[in-house]
Amino acid sequence: MPRKIIIDTDPGQDDAVAILLALASPELEVLALTTVAGNVPLPLTTRNARQIVELSGHQIPVYAGCDAPLRRKLVTAEYVHGKTGLDGIPLPEPSLPLQPQHAVDHIIDTLRAHPAGTITLCPLGPLTNIATAFLRAPDIIPRVAEIVLMGGAYFEVGNVTPAAEFNIYVDPEAADIVFKSGVPLVVMPLDVTHKALTSRAWVEEMRALGTPVGQAVASWTDFFERFDTAKYGSEGAPLHDPCVIAYLIEPALFHGRHINVEIETGSELTLGMTVADWWRVTGREPNAMFMGSVDREGFYRLLTERLGRL
Ligand code: RIB
Ligand code: CA
Repeated sequence: MPRKIIIDTDPGQDDAVAILLALASPELEVLALTTVAGNVPLPLTTRNARQIVELSGHQIPVYAGCDAPLRRKLVTAEYVHGKTGLDGIPLPEPSLPLQPQHAVDHIIDTLRAHPAGTITLCPLGPLTNIATAFLRAPDIIPRVAEIVLMGGAYFEVGNVTPAAEFNIYVDPEAADIVFKSGVPLVVMPLDVTHKALTSRAWVEEMRALGTPVGQAVASWTDFFERFDTAKYGSEGAPLHDPCVIAYLIEPALFHGRHINVEIETGSELTLGMTVADWWRVTGREPNAMFMGSVDREGFYRLLTERLGRL
C-alpha cells in the first residue's frame, strides 16, 4: 500500500528533484503539491511546481498557498536559485491548471477526509502553510501520521545567518508551531543535507540518461551548485530536499537522534535557530528525529535509479 503524502514546496531546483523522486517511486502516493513562498515569491514557486509536474508526465494537482510568512516580511533566495527559482534549463509554459482551492484549505480537507494516521506531510520550504492549517483547524493535528521536513541545522550551523537555516529562518513562528504541535517529526537539517553533496560524475550520469528529466536535473544541478561550491569550496552542492523523499523510501540511509528541538523566535541575533538538544542536557521532551548522517552512495544510487524511470 503506497504511503500517502502531500509535498509542501517552494521550488527551487532541489525541491524539483525531490518532487521527481517522489513521483518516480511506487512506495509513495503524492496526493498533491502545495506551494508556499520561500526561495522565490509564491507566483513563481507555483508556476515552477506546475512545470515540474508536467516534466514528470504525472497528473498531480497543484494548490497555491501562503504568499508571506505568518508575521514577517518574506525573505527569498534568488541569489541561490536564480530569478525564476528554477533557473538552469528553459521549460515550456505550464498548461497544467492550478487548483482553485487555497493550499491550506486543501491540507485541512485532505486530513479530515482520510483516516487519521494515513497522511504524511513533507514540507520542503518555510512552514507557513502547515502552521496556518494547524492554527485554522487544530482538529487535523492528531490526524497527521508524521511530518518529514527539510529544515534547521545544529552542528552545521546556519546557511542564511550564522545561526539559522533558510526554511526555518523565513518563518520561525510557523516552525515553532510545527515543532510544538506534537506531530511525530523527522527533520533533515543541514547537518545531513550538507553530506548529500552532488558530484560531477553523478551530474554527468543524469545527463547520460538522455531523457528530458535527466537533462533538467543535470542543468538544475549545474546552476544550483555554483553558489554552494563557491561559498563552501566543496566539490558539489547539497541536494537538501530529496533527503526528505529518500528517507520515506529507504529510511536506513539516514541516522540521527530522537531529541528535543526548539525554535528561536525572540532573538534577532539567532532568529530561526533550531536549538537541538543533541546531548540531551535540557531534560526537555524529545519531539523530533533529528538526522545527522546519510549513506551518500546509497542516496545517489537511489536517485539515479528512480529518476531513470521517468
Ligand atoms: O536551506 C535549504 C532549503 O532552503 C531547501 O529547502 C532549499 O530549497 C531552500 O528552500
Ligand atoms: Ca525548498
